[in-house]
Amino acid sequence: MHKSRIPLIAGNWKMHHGGASGVELAVAVAERASELAGVEVVVAPPFTALAAVAHAVEEVGQKRGRPPIGVAGQNLYPEPKGAFTGEVSGPMLKEAGCRWVILGHSERRQLLGETDELVARKTVAAIASQLHPIVCVGETLDERTSGKTLDVVLRQLRAALDAIASARGAAVVAYEPVWAIGTGKVATPADAQEVHAAIRVELGKKDPRLAEVTRVLYGGSVKGENAKDLLAQVDVDGALVGGAALDADGFGLILRAAHALASPPGSA
Ligand code: PGA
Repeated sequence: MHKSRIPLIAGNWKMHHGGASGVELAVAVAERASELAGVEVVVAPPFTALAAVAHAVEEVGQKRGRPPIGVAGQNLYPEPKGAFTGEVSGPMLKEAGCRWVILGHSERRQLLGETDELVARKTVAAIASQLHPIVCVGETLDERTSGKTLDVVLRQLRAALDAIASARGAAVVAYEPVWAIGTGKVATPADAQEVHAAIRVELGKKDPRLAEVTRVLYGGSVKGENAKDLLAQVDVDGALVGGAALDADGFGLILRAAHALASPPGSA
């Protein structure tokens, strides 16, 4: 974590909490977040809960006199409207109260065949809809063991780099090693830092300022117990959290770890 970038902790709920339980979880997260200045918090519920969650967190923000936490879609379709059965567009996410969208998650790349090119188009569409994209990149276990980690991660990043650059810091990159997602196997802080640093170098080749302002999150089995060591790495600007985001207390521990690093004791 570098003091020039505000840490971002995003909870990816995947296909959980699509109704009333999602509102309950979001309110509990928003209440905890309202006590922790200096950390930006986002939740990504399923589409069916987005509007209700956005409304509920807005109310918590108003009650607490704080800006509301962010709400993210977990995907979008790159066209604004049309005959695309089952898809949801950027303008629709905006209308539901989202300010964010997760794109290119490895589950979508692997299970639904999303290509680098499609993720790039989605990134362009997100920015055109004034949504902050969280663009996910990451290698599989085979790719890591055969020494291709940086090739894969940087290839995925480069595909969306023009769009990311056009957002001038409003886009976020999430490094999520596929072998660490939902497996309990977390990358070591040093492994994460190595890839994050490479991502930042690549951003800097496009534009040095982009490297300074773009937040790069780590994702893959982040929990209260390992968050501090990961977030302490200079190029780790936050976390994209799956399983541990489904419980407000567990997610709260990660928010606290980010808060403690962002505002160490004795700081003004
Ligand atoms: P996990 O998921 O925290 O459950 O590993 C992270 C993600 O898929 O974004």
